[in-house]
Amino acid sequence: MKTPKTVYVCQACGYNSPKWGGKCPGCGAWNSMLEEFTGEETVSRGLGSPQASGSQKPVPVEQVVTEDRPRFLTGSAELDQVLGGGMISGSLILIGGDPGIGKSSLTLQVCASVARERGKVLYVTGEESLRQVKMRADRLQALHENLYVLSETNIEEIERHALALAPELLVIDSIQTMYRPDMPSAPGSVSQLREGSAQLMRLAKNHAIATILVGHVTKDGAIAGPRVLEHMVDTVLYFEGDRNAQFRILRAIKNRFGSTNEIGLFEMKNSGLIDVPDASQLLLSERSQDVPGSIVISTMEGTRPLLVEVQALLSHSPFMPPRRTANGLDIKRVQLLLAVLEKRAGLLIGNSDVFVKVAGGITVEEPAVDLGLALVMASSFHNRKVSQDMVVFGEVGLSGEIRAVSQAEQRIREAEKMGFKRILIPQGNKKNIPQAIRPSVIGVETLAQALEEAFDAG
Ligand SMILES: Nc1ncnc2c1ncn2[C@@H]1O[C@H](COP(=O)(O)OP(=O)(O)OP(=O)(O)O)[C@@H](O)[C@H]1O
Ligand SMILES: [Mg+2]
Repeated sequence: MKTPKTVYVCQACGYNSPKWGGKCPGCGAWNSMLEEFTGEETVSRGLGSPQASGSQKPVPVEQVVTEDRPRFLTGSAELDQVLGGGMISGSLILIGGDPGIGKSSLTLQVCASVARERGKVLYVTGEESLRQVKMRADRLQALHENLYVLSETNIEEIERHALALAPELLVIDSIQTMYRPDMPSAPGSVSQLREGSAQLMRLAKNHAIATILVGHVTKDGAIAGPRVLEHMVDTVLYFEGDRNAQFRILRAIKNRFGSTNEIGLFEMKNSGLIDVPDASQLLLSERSQDVPGSIVISTMEGTRPLLVEVQALLSHSPFMPPRRTANGLDIKRVQLLLAVLEKRAGLLIGNSDVFVKVAGGITVEEPAVDLGLALVMASSFHNRKVSQDMVVFGEVGLSGEIRAVSQAEQRIREAEKMGFKRILIPQGNKKNIPQAIRPSVIGVETLAQALEEAFDAG
């Protein structure tokens, strides 16, 4: 397909049009259509195949030769798990995340590990000087003779060096700084990103070089640039977490070689990002003992159960309307549960300021947090402690009924592993769990029942 010399490309979704418009016909964003020059080049639609077009003919699927692409370990068990059991040679991985979250640190650590275990690695930086990279490598103890660094933003040059070096792993930090000299638009523009990534994809597939593209993230959390970038790569990983919080979570948004339910947990230390295999233990290590307004809930992050502490503070408010603040929880969920507590359990909380938070900088979005959240707010309101050896999960309905949630068995096993003796769960979940783990489980059907079970006597 030949394209005109000038097209207008939506910077949000990648939609392109020969005419300018104030509103993108693709995604509806306003003022997002920017003029870009594509030259007389054939513009791929982003799903570019590694083979040249025209050279292929249809073959029966049974006769397709599948070469075994080896997986190799990255040196971080958490990252391996997110990738589906290690990295695959020739795969293209996009890692996105907020500024300063640790993208360069993680990729440099992976580079060092692969350099030690497998062979040559090329780390290309378009943002930092080689000196800065060396200083970081020093700090992360990532120095190795097989680790090569290159300060370059021209993709043609990068390809030339990669072909000469034939590395096992190539890291591009970041894809937004790279450009193809044959295209007139600026680095970071949609067409540069698309064509640059397509070229790197061909390099990765044809020469079996595992490639990591580091991507920036816009204010609203999307990986900057068009969504076509996400369609082109094999795996999209997203690094999230508050920069000041203890944990960084690496989440798979897309994975052609594994499940997207996996997350990896890391802690940022002076020596780099450290795997956190036993997060519950770390999250509960600073738990406030013996005070009202604290409860432990069991939540799922992908396929992984996590025990986290939820805290609440309710106090009589001098203001009208009273203040309601939630950290790590949805404020609408808090408001809804306050209404349910007032209407179904008779708690007159209307005049209270309500502050709730999840400890450790974790965000809990799933409905299974409801029961724990309702109980911890009641605990603070009544000034009564929740049993220290209790873990809670379950969804609360508008009539005060406790509804079953998914993956109850994993949640219970994690709580038992951490030594909790009483696990308050929806009655609807209790009937489906194996006999062996039943003794510690208390099933409840209503919020009123749960309130009776949860508090220490006296
Ligand atoms: N000397 C240091 N000691 C401990 N931690 C450090 C040190 N220097 C940097 N860090 C940590 O590393 C983080 C920055 O990591 P990194 O540069 O890998 O992030 P990034 O995601 O690549 O950022 P950018 O988007 O700016 O490229 C900082 O937020 C800080 O937490
Ligand atoms: Mg960086």
